[in-house]
Amino acid sequence: MKNKAYTSSFASIYDDVMGTVPYQVWYDYLKEILDYYQLEARKVLDLACGTGNMSLLFARDNYQVTGVDRSSGMLEVAKQKAREEELEINFIEADLCSFQLEEKFDLAISLFDSLNYILQLEDLKKVFKNVFDSLRDGGIFIFDVNTLSRLMSIEPGTTILNGEDYTCIWEDIVNEEKKLWQVKLKIYHKDTGEYHEEFHQEKGYKIADLKGALKEAEFEDIAVFNAYTFTEATDNDNRIYFVALKNRKRSAERPVLRSVKNLKWGIKRFINGL
Ligand SMILES: C[S@@+](CC[C@H](N)C(=O)[O-])C[C@H]1O[C@@H](n2cnc3c(N)ncnc32)[C@H](O)[C@@H]1O
Repeated sequence: MKNKAYTSSFASIYDDVMGTVPYQVWYDYLKEILDYYQLEARKVLDLACGTGNMSLLFARDNYQVTGVDRSSGMLEVAKQKAREEELEINFIEADLCSFQLEEKFDLAISLFDSLNYILQLEDLKKVFKNVFDSLRDGGIFIFDVNTLSRLMSIEPGTTILNGEDYTCIWEDIVNEEKKLWQVKLKIYHKDTGEYHEEFHQEKGYKIADLKGALKEAEFEDIAVFNAYTFTEATDNDNRIYFVALKNRKRSAERPVLRSVKNLKWGIKRFINGL
């Protein structure tokens, strides 16, 4: 099968397939991290923005947003959604391994394990360098990944997703030797009779390797949190968030504030079933 992911076919059903993804909770968590780091952000760079779900959340709150993705199909959906809400978002089609922007941003984000799609550590180092160059001094880069242990524990098998106007056959495969989670998608569009196939691959990395790659890109202060907590992540967690600062050291550790945020997010996690 051709190694092509995020064609227009999948882009057209992506938001429906991902209908239960808690983007609003992710957004609230990002805002909580910004508060913890005392960062006043105005300009946000959403890397691998996809159909723009995070970009739109920031833009609705009057942030100045630029979204980058290599899939023209995903960007088309994102642009359409922004037009419908009359939100001005700058969407750019580019590969994260090679993008360059003149503008400097306060905050760069990349969510929903998009960076697991970068299959070689050497390529990830290029991505990190490009992100570093896009941030202003004192700026922050926040991204999430699926851990290697999470990817390797996915149950192989096939799921059928039935939408109003599509059927999607989703096959999970785990390649332990290559540390890859692979997904074969077969998409039937009931309205047009079209049929498409896609192949997705996510690579699992160890925290130490990602930290090393961030340091090589000159990020200074790097924290890794278990998702929706302010607790240091381990390789045994599922989704983890990296927070890396450009030319800025975090202010002194604030254990009381950290405990308060952990308590608040413990309740949020419970309420949202996360
Ligand atoms: C799981 S989707 C996440 C999209 C979006 N961040 C969200 O939260 O819905 C992964 C996205 O990463 C993009 N992507 C993967 N590799 C990329 C690369 N090398 N350069 C740019 N975009 C990439 C895909 O096109 C896709 O839109």
